[in-house]
Amino acid sequence: MDQAQWTGLVSKMRDNYRTPLSDSDIQSIGLYLSAAYGSEERAPLPVAQAGNLDDLLSRNACLGCHALEQKIVGPSFKDIAQRYREQPEALRTVAGHIGEGGSGRWGQIPMPPFTGLSSEELEHLARYVLEQ
Ligand code: HEC
Repeated sequence: MDQAQWTGLVSKMRDNYRTPLSDSDIQSIGLYLSAAYGSEERAPLPVAQAGNLDDLLSRNACLGCHALEQKIVGPSFKDIAQRYREQPEALRTVAGHIGEGGSGRWGQIPMPPFTGLSSEELEHLARYVLEQ
């Protein structure tokens, strides 16, 4: 399915289950699903923007599942930063976890893997999260 179809499906699920998601959440989730599981080719990031944080966050729908201060689907970025504050290898560890996804560190809900991101992009995102 392409982005419009995924977004339509998520929107229907929201209405059926009365989930408190905004339209922009629905857009982000539809975008993510079409990129990760859809038929749509994911356009490569233009080189000049590859390191652009807002672009990385929005293209990968991170903020559909995470917020700075409160838990949404995933833990808040502040809670993550707090947990790793004293850990010497935090940046590398967290960058690896963003790429691999997984579950069990914060709860049972899994985070999808982001295998399409380069190691620079993963580090850039991890550094941002750990600075919160
Ligand atoms: C579909 C929802 C979803 C999306 C999209 C998502 N996450 Fe997550 N994320 C989660 C969940 C759920 C967890 C907790 C997983 C666990 O319990 O191990 C998590 C955990 C994390 C962690 C903590 C890892 C650790 O080492 O403890 C970081 C950092 C993180 N996400 C960053 C991101 C970034 C950056 C993006 C965008 C590239 C992103 N997430 C996209 C749901 C999501």
